[in-house]
Amino acid sequence: MSLSVIQTRAQLGVESPAVQVEVHLSGGLPSLSIVGLPETAVKESRERVRSALITAGFDFPQRRITINLAPADLPKEGGRYDLAIALGILAASGQIKREGFSDLEVIGELALSGEVRSVRGVLPAAIACGQRQRTLIVPAANADEAAMSEGTVVIPVSHLLGLCAHLQGETRISPHQRPPLDDGGKPLADLGDVRGQLQARRALEVAAAGMHNLLFLGPPGSGKSMLASRLPGLLPPMAADESLEVASIHSVAGLPVASACLGRRPFRSPHHTASAVALVGGGGRPRPGEISLSHQGVLFLDELPEFPRRVLEVLREPMETGEILISRAAHSTRYPARFLLAAAMNPCPCGYFGDGTERCHCSPDQVRRYQQRISGPLLDRIDLQLAVPALPPDELLEPGVPGESSDQVRQRVLVARERQLQRQGCVNRDLDNRQLMIHCALSEAGRRLLSRVMEKHSLSARACHRLLRVARTLADLQGIESIDEACLLEAVIFRGQSNQS
Ligand SMILES: Nc1ncnc2c1ncn2[C@@H]1O[C@H](COP(=O)(O)OP(=O)(O)OP(=O)(O)O)[C@@H](O)[C@H]1O
Ligand SMILES: [Mg+2]
Ligand SMILES: [Zn+2]
Repeated sequence: MSLSVIQTRAQLGVESPAVQVEVHLSGGLPSLSIVGLPETAVKESRERVRSALITAGFDFPQRRITINLAPADLPKEGGRYDLAIALGILAASGQIKREGFSDLEVIGELALSGEVRSVRGVLPAAIACGQRQRTLIVPAANADEAAMSEGTVVIPVSHLLGLCAHLQGETRISPHQRPPLDDGGKPLADLGDVRGQLQARRALEVAAAGMHNLLFLGPPGSGKSMLASRLPGLLPPMAADESLEVASIHSVAGLPVASACLGRRPFRSPHHTASAVALVGGGGRPRPGEISLSHQGVLFLDELPEFPRRVLEVLREPMETGEILISRAAHSTRYPARFLLAAAMNPCPCGYFGDGTERCHCSPDQVRRYQQRISGPLLDRIDLQLAVPALPPDELLEPGVPGESSDQVRQRVLVARERQLQRQGCVNRDLDNRQLMIHCALSEAGRRLLSRVMEKHSLSARACHRLLRVARTLADLQGIESIDEACLLEAVIFRGQSNQS
């Protein structure tokens, strides 16, 4: 009996559970069956492996070959197991030596020529492999990405033959060195370029300090997109564990990971023609959507009412829970999705309603219908809603001192963040109801004020809690222990202004 076992890894959301490829050769009619893979994946993999072995000059054993991918109940799709299967066949048939596989893990898809092709989701596999102190064999094209997992020994391979020579000790491949990090990125847009708009700047600072959602409402060209694009520059860089998690999501989506590894928070701005799947994730092999790609960063939805309502509604759940569960018949996949939602919209179809000129001819009904494209429950989750009026020409053109730069504002954001983390271990946006009672306690006068506001504006319980979190951030920016009435009032104004336009 000839048996071999090769270690590899599956991909399940951002996790990468271990999988064993067991190859068994026995007498009987020549055949190759793979247990534990869906039918189409089996067929494709079988053909690739067979061709790759033959093209590379190996024997394809004329025996009964049984391959088992264990555990059986993990979803296993795609070509990432090809290389492990090919090695298993070679080892079981004695074409390469059988020892030395216990501290190795192997991932890669084979081309018919025996070349090794890149796969998605290598970084989570590299992290998990490193935790087991094993060496990871990856497609050369994925080596940079895998090496982002510090402490994992990564062996890059570009052809099955090269890998075999390495394993036989003939031509050693040296471990891949982690490249210097470079995302080729442009410097972040700076707040210093924005003139005036003091209230919008303040909102950006508050949003960044507590990770509160934000909506800018205003006429075309008033600077809404410009302002929102300044958010990433105000956010503190990600901590190492956050970076790795975000990079893992990008890895699974097949996107570059360098920027996340550098600690840069993601800024994603999907177009309003994007599908619901592109936005929240999904597909046959569930992929992360924009809400997960912007995890720990900013999801910017420009021209918010242009997004189909059905697409926007799917945001509601992840905005509360910070994750998205994509359910499939066979299994469900969970992706993190804790993003800051920044959105921009015009107040009416023509864009100029309420700008103080006569140019808007939209009927009140048109204006109402336009604004109602954003559902109440979604608006309820947006903490900072404010009008961004067009800048008067003299303010735009006046030479003079520029406004504060992103660096200056970020310093204050950092201090406020530090307070939050010291006090409660999370940003204010993530305060749960129990923490809220402790850390957002109000004075008698504050409570009276808030209940008056709740009644007057018919605020929901959720809105009230969200308002308290914003007030907490305002107090943190100011460096005061408890939320005072000024903080409460400012939080109220931030919540309501757009509705009054
Ligand atoms: N406050 C400002 N300071 C400096 N430049 C500004 C300001 N506001 C607008 N601009 C200029 O106007 C341009 C258009 O702004 P932006 O694209 O942000 O407008 P918008 O509000 O998003 O418009 P739309 O509703 O059409 O999307 C900016 O790129 C910038 O050059
Ligand atoms: Mg715009
Ligand atoms: Zn109009």
